[in-house]
Amino acid sequence: MVVKDLVKKYSEGPPAVQGISFDVRAGEFFGFLGPNGAGKSTTIKILTTLMPKSSGSVSVGGFDVDKEAHRIRKLIGVQSQETALDLDLTGQENLMLQGHLQRMGGQVLEKRVNELLGLVGLEDAAGKRVAFYSGGMKKRLDLATSLIHSPKILFLDEPTTGLDPQSRSAIWSYLKRLNKEDGITIFLTTQYLEEADKLCDRLSIVDHGQIVAQGTPEEMKREIAADAVSLTIADGLDLASDNALSEARQILRRIVGVTDVIYSGNGLTVYGKNGAFLVPEIVRALDNAQLKIATISVSTPTLDDVFLKHTGRSIRSEGHKEISVEQKKKRPFFFGRKQEVR
Ligand SMILES: Nc1ncnc2c1ncn2[C@@H]1O[C@H](COP(=O)(O)OP(=O)(O)OP(=O)(O)O)[C@@H](O)[C@H]1O
Ligand SMILES: [Mg+2]
Repeated sequence: MVVKDLVKKYSEGPPAVQGISFDVRAGEFFGFLGPNGAGKSTTIKILTTLMPKSSGSVSVGGFDVDKEAHRIRKLIGVQSQETALDLDLTGQENLMLQGHLQRMGGQVLEKRVNELLGLVGLEDAAGKRVAFYSGGMKKRLDLATSLIHSPKILFLDEPTTGLDPQSRSAIWSYLKRLNKEDGITIFLTTQYLEEADKLCDRLSIVDHGQIVAQGTPEEMKREIAADAVSLTIADGLDLASDNALSEARQILRRIVGVTDVIYSGNGLTVYGKNGAFLVPEIVRALDNAQLKIATISVSTPTLDDVFLKHTGRSIRSEGHKEISVEQKKKRPFFFGRKQEVR
């Protein structure tokens, strides 16, 4: 799969995809990680021939999206963000219907349906109407329907969003099996850093229609090559003002071993080679300046730090820059509680 300078402009607003390029190798598990509105679904719709692009070139499985869309459609399976199931039919009937749409039939289809019901653990619910399925069951059935014709390349648009941890990890293991055992190339979009880290061989991090980082999860984390110390500053029982944060930032930047200090969420993130060693230095420096720490925690680099480094925002706290100090103070805040970093 080769994507070059892909642009998509809708009739309104800025372009949803702004000249992105990447390639996905055969057999690879590739991730497209980004927050709401990053352009993930738009990209997947173009790659799966469901929507025309504005400019750039895209080939999937060696075929051009403009000239050979029919060939691409035979090769791919797609699970779109909104599940495409018929609620009045049973799980088994949904799979049969999908098979018929793919011109399958007879014993071949019946065997495939049973195989897939087994893969996603829905044998017992096969005869139940989908209207009575839980969210997790629907996502699993939807995944199975996208696999009915044994595609070589699978596109999944946020297959685990909204699921509980147990259903999510069940889907992860099916996907790993499909990729490692059956050699299916997988292109997956997600908002979950942990998911991209666990599953993907390589990934692109996207934001506002642009790729901000690309590589293996390990390469990306190595690029940060530093521990992160996250902290918030207290002003009585409230969080400190932006002025206090700015003052703290100046002070922290002067500590030996600190490589960078950036705003994140309601506080600051300090990067340095050895986080555990830095904590006492940070506490002392802020104490000397009469700045009181509310919460502090150390973490080794994660993909969130990669996102933060490239965009100045945390993937989990979209839009925090717009939150005024007044609004911040209204938020519930518990003094001394360890900050949940991610
Ligand atoms: N049909 C449309 N017409 C106009 N604008 C659109 C349309 N679909 C998406 N957009 C806009 O394009 C941008 C990217 O949307 P897209 O759905 O690709 O994001 P996403 O990364 O999939 O987000 P999410 O994680 O919320 O699914 C957004 O600003 C969105 O409002
Ligand atoms: Mg989307």
